[in-house]
Amino acid sequence: MKTIIKSTLRFTAYIFLLTFSLNLLAQDPAAPAAAPAAAAPAAAAGGADDALAKAGEAVFNANCKQCHGFNEVVVGPALKDAHTRWNNDAKLKFFIKYPQKSINTEPYAKALYEKYKPSIMPNHDGLPDGDIDAVIAYIKTGGPAPAVSKTDTPINPVEGGGADSATTTYLLGALLVVLLLIVGVLAMLISVLTRMVSTKTDVTEDEKEYLFGKLRWNVLFGSPIFRSVATLVLVVVVIKFGFDQVYAVGIQQGYAPKQPIPFSHKLHAGQYEIDCNYCHTGVNKGKSAVIPSVNICLNCHNAIKTQSPNMQKLYNAVETNEPIQWVRVHNLPDLAYFNHAQHVKVGGIECTKCHGNVAEMEVIEQHSTLTMGWCINCHRETVVKAEGNAYYDKLLAMHNQSSKDPMKVANIGGLECSKCHY
Ligand code: HEC
Ligand code: HEC
Ligand code: HEC
Ligand code: HEC
Ligand code: HEC
Ligand code: HEC
Repeated sequence: MKTIIKSTLRFTAYIFLLTFSLNLLAQDPAAPAAAPAAAAPAAAAGGADDALAKAGEAVFNANCKQCHGFNEVVVGPALKDAHTRWNNDAKLKFFIKYPQKSINTEPYAKALYEKYKPSIMPNHDGLPDGDIDAVIAYIKTGGPAPAVSKTDTPINPVEGGGADSATTTYLLGALLVVLLLIVGVLAMLISVLTRMVSTKTDVTEDEKEYLFGKLRWNVLFGSPIFRSVATLVLVVVVIKFGFDQVYAVGIQQGYAPKQPIPFSHKLHAGQYEIDCNYCHTGVNKGKSAVIPSVNICLNCHNAIKTQSPNMQKLYNAVETNEPIQWVRVHNLPDLAYFNHAQHVKVGGIECTKCHGNVAEMEVIEQHSTLTMGWCINCHRETVVKAEGNAYYDKLLAMHNQSSKDPMKVANIGGLECSKCHY
């Protein structure tokens, strides 16, 4: 009897542990929020209107979207409820076709024009009347439902690294079913056993105490089964925590966050061959490479692509005196010291060596691991560029006396803790 109960207990404990540890280890760190299906425009009354509005959406996307949103000012005003502001479809239609003529006849159009100067809405006299009717029908629907924005949290760099969450869910579901089955079987076992025991007459006092006595906690905690289970749980938790820490200590290789303006290095540094230095003015001067201020962008974008919504963001930034909030990609912890000028100017190392082929990157991403091992390895392998640098003459002479190998960064103190740690 005792052995039956014991082995059942042990079996349950292991199943429990298995589930528990699987659950812990399989947890997806960044459970992807269910992607909202692209919401269709709020349905207008009537099927014919629906079709017209649908056609209008296409016209809008092709001709208007670059300047208009529904809920936010882009270049032109937000179009939500625009038809109620005009209160007259004919006037609205005329405005969309000939906004500049409308200014002369319509005080509201004039007011709008004054407000949005120097941006102006171009004429759309090339659009067929039917298209304009369609786009007005589309405006009346209120536009697409606002999409739930995907937040880019720079804090958790290992998103998407977890197990496929659907598989995990199925696995856990299956385990749950198994567990429930076991609980059922155990309950049956208990009831059968108690019935059996209660019909027995030759039970000693000791056995009665064992069978019907209250649960004694000190005995439970002291039992070897409990201790081994507890130890195992602890070990699993510690391992899980350890893994998380290892990932969290920010190996952010490949990290490529979405930026507030889709600035493309491929276009600027690649296709137009703008020198890295032109924007990252610090690389030859000091510690930081420096992210360019808006003024550098405006050197060109005062004249190039001035109608692009992205440029409006730049102009707004100048007006409000608030810098663009670029999301930082590379970020060493405060305890480490890294200096660009030392590596680029003195060391003569190309940007690509550490940052990869930036001129090919549409979105910038972290190319190297940026770990201490990465720095140290390079210091072990790289020969110091000592020729023509008087600063190294003595060091080089000393080095060559004692060694036949070329002088590496490691030989000039590149492995000393204090060089990289304050
Ligand atoms: C190049 C940018 C640009 C494009 C393209 C553009 N608009 Fe405009 N739109 C504006 C600006 C700027 C205004 C503000 C008034 C002005 O400048 O005359 C405006 C105003 C409007 C208004 C008045 C909004 C209100 O609050 O009453 C409507 C309606 C409108 N546009 C519809 C359209 C439609 C429909 C299209 C496409 C067929 C379109 N716009 C294309 C820039 C644009
Ligand atoms: C026209 C200006 C411009 C030029 C030219 C340019 N960059 Fe950039 N760079 C930026 C801006 C703006 C950002 C910040 C936005 C971003 O991360 O995309 C940036 C970001 C970066 C970053 C990431 C910074 C971080 O947050 O860690 C690196 C690395 C970088 N640039 C390297 C280069 C290299 C290498 C070149 C030359 C091949 C170059 N850039 C040329 C403007 C420029
Ligand atoms: C030396 C000139 C120059 C500088 C400086 C410059 N750009 Fe550009 N940029 C261009 C050119 C040229 C294009 C391509 C225009 C085209 O496609 O017709 C462009 C295109 C763009 C585009 C894509 C066009 C669009 O419709 O949105 C963005 C975004 C952009 N630049 C952002 C920036 C930002 C942000 C800065 C400052 C960090 C910057 N640029 C600095 C020359 C420059
Ligand atoms: C020896 C490796 C190495 C080289 C070479 C190098 N970088 Fe970096 N870069 C780094 C590291 C490491 C960081 C992160 C610095 C930090 O977080 O303090 C960084 C950060 C940056 C940043 C982000 C802003 C900042 O300074 O923190 C930009 C922009 C950048 N580098 C551009 C460049 C450009 C442009 C060149 C070439 C002229 C270049 N880097 C050459 C290692 C390098
Ligand atoms: C691609 C190779 C390379 C990588 C990667 C690299 N370094 Fe260096 N580092 C050099 C070279 C070459 C020099 C020697 C420059 C000179 O001549 O002073 C140097 C010099 C230094 C020095 C000055 C050493 C001295 O004795 O004066 C420091 C500090 C330093 N690096 C820190 C770092 C840190 C921190 C990292 C990682 C974040 C790093 N380096 C990554 C190549 C590299
Ligand atoms: C060439 C530069 C360099 C040298 C030399 C160097 N470190 Fe580091 N160290 C780094 C960088 C960079 C980091 C940050 C790495 C990261 O964030 O993954 C770091 C991180 C650390 C950390 C923190 C680790 C963590 O998990 O955050 C410790 C502790 C440390 N270093 C100790 C030392 C000691 C002790 C020495 C001397 C034997 C030394 N370092 C020499 C560059 C260096």
